[in-house]
Amino acid sequence: MENGHARNRVAVIGSGNWGSVASRLIASNTAKLPSFHDEVRMWVFEEILPTGKKLSESINQANENCKYLPGIKLGANVIADPDLENAVKDANMLVFVTPHQFVEGICKKLVDKLRPGAEAISLIKGMEVKMEGPCMISKLITSILGINCCVLMGANIANEIAVEKFSEATVGYKKDKEVATRWAKLFTTPYFLVSIVEDIEGVELCGTLKNVVAIAAGLVDGLDMGNNTKGSTECYSLKMSSRTVSAD
Ligand SMILES: NC(=O)c1ccc[n+]([C@@H]2O[C@H](COP(=O)([O-])OP(=O)(O)OC[C@H]3O[C@@H](n4cnc5c(N)ncnc54)[C@H](O)[C@@H]3O)[C@@H](O)[C@H]2O)c1
Repeated sequence: MENGHARNRVAVIGSGNWGSVASRLIASNTAKLPSFHDEVRMWVFEEILPTGKKLSESINQANENCKYLPGIKLGANVIADPDLENAVKDANMLVFVTPHQFVEGICKKLVDKLRPGAEAISLIKGMEVKMEGPCMISKLITSILGINCCVLMGANIANEIAVEKFSEATVGYKKDKEVATRWAKLFTTPYFLVSIVEDIEGVELCGTLKNVVAIAAGLVDGLDMGNNTKGSTECYSLKMSSRTVSAD
């Protein structure tokens, strides 16, 4: 697409805390890079706010996600869309950023609804645990939709990136370096440094399992048990999580 005639079009599937920040990052780039269409469609799981207003309408009116990212403008080229099919229909670059437990249902709704040649990237930390064992989210997306799926992971706290504090992340890809480079270009800003590595599984597992370790470390800190216990807990939590656990 980038070397062809049409410009790349991006849809973000998810509009929570990280989805809103990812849309903001992406929109700052699509607004200035000629290889991308300006508009970023952000699919919103519709919610009714305490005011009675729909979340998607509120986002489009205020250019702000008052529930999941209050106080931060998303960029005028971010359009909230509560209609999943409509949000993705023109996009050739799909960014998945919902909590992991919703991915399977969302993908099933998108079967045969995507633009030919669409590519995906998952920003989701977690695994789907099936009877046969754990299934990585990128694999789940590829198996249901039959499309290539890269991953983007890092030690990323959405609220810090929203206020442009420096952070870095890694795109994991399989074989197609040109596609990974295009994803990196879409996300990279002066305060968000993105590199690429030809290892989807390694990047996705590190992104997911680090959260399990973080929970264990937090428990040890809370109980004031010291660094030796923290070290052993981290090893133990990695061993356990590599067997079954799903994480957010
Ligand atoms: N928040 C972060 O700092 C951060 C950083 C890196 C990665 N992540 C990852 O990003 C993913 C999304 O996390 P988040 O923090 O944006 O989530 P969040 O908790 O802020 O938002 C939850 C989202 O899920 C939506 N939702 C609720 N019910 C739903 C349903 N039935 N179907 C579909 N959507 C539904 C909500 O509307 C909301 O948009 C997770 O996998 C998380 O691990 C988050």
